[in-house]
Amino acid sequence: MTRVITYGTFDLFHEGHRRLLERAKALGDYLIVAVTTENFDDARGKLNVAQSLMERIQNVRDSGLADEIIVEEYEGQKVNDIQRHRVDIFAIGSDWVGKFDYLNDYCKVVYLERTKGVSSTELRNAGGVLKVGVVGSGRIAARFVAEARFVSGVSIEAVCSRSLESAQRFAAKLELETAVADFDELLQSVQAIYIASPHGTHYDYAKRAIKVGVHVLCEKPMTLTKAQTVELFELARERKVVLLEAVKTAFSPGFQRMVAVARMGFIGRIRSVDATFTKLVDSGRELQAPDGGSISELATYPLLAAVKLIGTDFTDVHTLSLRPSAGGVELFSRIDIKYPHAIASARSGIGVKAEGDLVVAGEHGYIYVPAPWWKTEYFEMRFEDSQDNKRYYYKFDGDGLRYELAEFAYMIRNGVLESFKLRQEESIAMADILERARANPEYFG
Ligand code: CTP
Repeated sequence: MTRVITYGTFDLFHEGHRRLLERAKALGDYLIVAVTTENFDDARGKLNVAQSLMERIQNVRDSGLADEIIVEEYEGQKVNDIQRHRVDIFAIGSDWVGKFDYLNDYCKVVYLERTKGVSSTELRNAGGVLKVGVVGSGRIAARFVAEARFVSGVSIEAVCSRSLESAQRFAAKLELETAVADFDELLQSVQAIYIASPHGTHYDYAKRAIKVGVHVLCEKPMTLTKAQTVELFELARERKVVLLEAVKTAFSPGFQRMVAVARMGFIGRIRSVDATFTKLVDSGRELQAPDGGSISELATYPLLAAVKLIGTDFTDVHTLSLRPSAGGVELFSRIDIKYPHAIASARSGIGVKAEGDLVVAGEHGYIYVPAPWWKTEYFEMRFEDSQDNKRYYYKFDGDGLRYELAEFAYMIRNGVLESFKLRQEESIAMADILERARANPEYFG
């Protein structure tokens, strides 16, 4: 008996999939189809798969062509599968020519001509590509445009900047169609915007966009006060528009896993979270009052760790800030957050450099995430007896901005107004802590 295996995502099952399976099956007597998990697809940068693993397995089952269905979960699995299942032939579409030649050591590799004119990507985009406009023409905006190329179904069409000249320069450099200085003009040409302008301008831009039904992905901090954040979410709910705070870490696979592992009980009840993020800055708006300073610039990351790991029911916030010159901005701050049963300490610095790590302390053990913890690729669960320690590895692709954009696009496409990866209540709690921390610090230095 000749055993054949093939692999794929099989999202929105189409004619190309069916024809591939038919030909793969015809190569032998028994066909094994491996369907990828969301995790595996995430790790290889295939974001925006529309159907769940169960639905995609069902697609393959319904084709009636598979004798056996397995799941592909990790890199390197093909080598093991081929041996375990005593596979004679590995078959895959011609879009992969050459990529799987290494499997010739284990079985015969056959590349089958891909069916022209159909793909899951096209079907996912059938509802149209999501047109996005960028507000602001600074560094983060440029990185965002570059990252957007990794998210299917999204097209960055236009940029809006207060200075038309800098918008035009940005558009030319990043090959965008349109550059405008008039925000209302931008709103007319796109379905969604990404706000990456100075912090103090977020609220107004977001509000104007939501009012005309344009979805908003807003750089952190979304606003500088709790009241404004609450108001924007209310307005977004009313207008049925997606509003999401662009805290990239929240949407990255490694961080989500770390939170899940921390909350599943192995380390016992979480009693303390210590998170640090520092980035030295010598000039620019980060150093300018009233909106600059280490808290508004960077504290969102450590605050994200606090709200995701402990919660939003804090009872007190106390802040110590380094401010070498009166009237200047604070350059380093420690925000201590008290909860009924736990504490968190969020350190941020633009004029002091510290180790950017994260420690989640529980009653039985702790989780250690080394710097840069906000791009979580690795973490360790540690115990009194180091033999019990466990290590976890994940992939964090590029800049990470692709993860927030993929989530944003998913929400818009599926009419989901709130992401469990960063709930509205969590953004509101972060705004609340940030506002209190900035309003009333105890200065030193
Ligand atoms: N395939 C094919 N013809 C197509 C589309 C896919 O032969 N028109 C093959 C692929 O080469 C692969 C298998 O079907 O061997 C599963 O591919 P998958 O990645 O699930 O499908 P795509 O439509 O290519 O998905 P995407 O657009 O998301 O990359």
